Amino acid sequence: MKEIIKNIYYVGVNDRNKTLFEGLWPLPNGVSYNAYLINDEKVCLIDTVEVDFFIPFLENIREVIGDRPIDYVVVNHMEPDHSGSLALLRQFYPNIQIVGNKKTFDMMAGFYKLTDGLHEVKNGDALSLGNHELQFVLTPMVHWPETMMTLCKSGECRVESVELATAHSNAEDATILFSGDAFGCFGALNGAFIDEQMNCDTFWLEMVRYYSNIVGKYGTPVQMALKKLAGVKVDYICSTHGPVWHENVEKVIGIYDQLSRYEAEPGLVICYGTMYGNTERAAEVIARSAAEAGVKNIVMYNVSKTHHSYIIRDLFRYKGLIVGAPTYNTGLYHEMNVLLDELSQKDIKGRLFGWFGSYSWASKAVSEIQKWNDERLHYDAVGTPVEIKQALNSETIAQCEALGRAMAEALKK
Ligand code: FEO
Repeated sequence: MKEIIKNIYYVGVNDRNKTLFEGLWPLPNGVSYNAYLINDEKVCLIDTVEVDFFIPFLENIREVIGDRPIDYVVVNHMEPDHSGSLALLRQFYPNIQIVGNKKTFDMMAGFYKLTDGLHEVKNGDALSLGNHELQFVLTPMVHWPETMMTLCKSGECRVESVELATAHSNAEDATILFSGDAFGCFGALNGAFIDEQMNCDTFWLEMVRYYSNIVGKYGTPVQMALKKLAGVKVDYICSTHGPVWHENVEKVIGIYDQLSRYEAEPGLVICYGTMYGNTERAAEVIARSAAEAGVKNIVMYNVSKTHHSYIIRDLFRYKGLIVGAPTYNTGLYHEMNVLLDELSQKDIKGRLFGWFGSYSWASKAVSEIQKWNDERLHYDAVGTPVEIKQALNSETIAQCEALGRAMAEALKK
């Protein structure tokens, strides 16, 4: 059994089989679907797991409560990686009450045709399990409209309001935040499930990639959720993906705060498409020039090789972006179009943007990239775009160097 604190258990599962999360995002280290069980006078599950993992999930539950029935399941989030087992769970526990808000239940009827045995809650509502009291905090768009978080306090330290700030020294009286997707990250849990039991190094960049790819569009709702929780001293954060946070509570809240404010370090992402190396050589000249001008954090990606999720991650980390690509079929190189479309959907604010392009006989790439920025990205344009006919020459090399220097100067400001 995996006990977090007395009578609160981890009952989630690991998925090391899936290649792409949501059919889109690579999972080199797998992913966990976290669920939790509170074993009190009333037994309460917090979230479920993807339906393919129902049997190990059920075994995890029974390991804790044996044949006892479950009284409640709280649905913090309806995306099927967490709600997928609800219909089967109802078959095994026919009297279970499903706890959610109005939007939760609208989705539940559509996804699973579950329309009875529902316990509807509003923001701030409480539910007593005996020695534990739950309080529900609605956090829409972190990551879907129905998302909410559940605060749990035990014993005498019950939650009076979400603004209440208290200190805790006794683990049995700890405040736990069941946070849904928020504060989650990619990566399966390899044995340990609480941060203090593991080396967390592999999770930090995967938290940024998870945030930027999955939740990154919703910076303002994340900020609103953080404000709602600002007065609560949380001892454990139990999200739906990745480790339970205990030693690193402040760190993970800080990461989410920084990312959702679109704050970035003074670094540069250079991303290019290339067919025969001419556009790539321009990227190398730009990078060298930026480095000579003092930019220490430079990452470079071939857009056709590196999955966009890593490029999006790094644009959340760094303030500068320079992209370049060839003209193709009298338009912009396909992979660059896909990347720019994805970036435009993330609404990343406050970034510096330079660009360059190449062509063999008819120029289009440079004007197409400018169109992306004018119409969709709205980043701050830096330097003069470079247009390369066929291969670099002394004139375009000088222009690439000027673009790298201009970005370096803009980053220094
Ligand atoms: Fe892990 Fe938005 O679901």
